[in-house]
Amino acid sequence: MAAVIAFVSQKGGVGKSTLARAVAREAAAGGLQTKIADLDTQQGTSVDWHRTRMDSGIEPVVSVESYKTASQALAVAKHFDLLVLDGPARTSQATLDIAKSADLVVQPTGASLDDLRPAVREFHALVKAGVDRGRLTFALNRIGTDAEEADARAFLEEAGYSVLEGCLVERASYRKAQNAGFAVTETRYAALNARADALIQALIDRISR
Ligand SMILES: Nc1ncnc2c1ncn2[C@@H]1O[C@H](COP(=O)(O)OP(=O)(O)OP(=O)(O)O)[C@@H](O)[C@H]1O
Ligand SMILES: [Mg+2]
Repeated sequence: MAAVIAFVSQKGGVGKSTLARAVAREAAAGGLQTKIADLDTQQGTSVDWHRTRMDSGIEPVVSVESYKTASQALAVAKHFDLLVLDGPARTSQATLDIAKSADLVVQPTGASLDDLRPAVREFHALVKAGVDRGRLTFALNRIGTDAEEADARAFLEEAGYSVLEGCLVERASYRKAQNAGFAVTETRYAALNARADALIQALIDRISR
C-alpha cells in the first residue's frame, strides 16, 4: 500500500500542483514507484505538465493520471510506493475526502495575512470534521525574505499547526521550469533547485518517519 500525500487548499494558485510535481519527481528519482493523481478534472494542469514532460523526454518519468475522486485514486494505490493527490481548489467536500484519504495533508500558503488566515481556517475546518491535526502541515510558498518566512511560520505554529522546514521563494524561474515540463527542483539554477529540494526532502522525511 502506498504512502499517500495530499495537497489541498481553498484558495487557488497557492502551489498545490507545483509541490505535487516536485515531490513526485524527487520520489521517482529516489527509486519509489510514484503516481500523481490529478483530482482537478476541470483544469488537469498536472496532466498537461506531464504531457509536456513526456514530449520533451525529461527523466525521470513521473506518472500522472486524472481521477474524479480521491477514492478512485486510492483504488490504484496498492500498485505504488507513493501516491500524490493533487487537489482542486474551492471544494470543501472533496477536500475533506482527500484529507481523510491521506497519511499527510499539505496546504501550501503564501505569507500575507490574507493568505494565512483563510489557510488556518481551512485546517481548523478539517480538524473539526475529524481529521487528525498531526497529519496536517503547511508548506510556505512565494516567500520574499527570510523575515517574511519566519513571521509566517510563527503565525501558523501559533495557530497550532506544523510547518515544513524550508520554503519556495517567489521566482519566475520556477514558473518557467514548469512551463517546460520540469519540476521546481529542476530549474537552470542550482541554488533555486537546492532550496526547493530542501523543502521537498522535509516533506519526504515527514512521511518516512
Ligand atoms: N514559488 C513560486 N514562484 C513563482 N511562481 C510560482 C511559485 N509557486 C507557484 N508558482 C506558479 O503559480 C501558478 C499556480 O501554481 P500551482 O498551479 O502550483 O497552484 P495550485 O494551488 O495547484 O493552483 P490551482 O488551485 O489552480 O490548482 C503556476 O503558474 C506556478 O508555476
Ligand atoms: Mg493545481
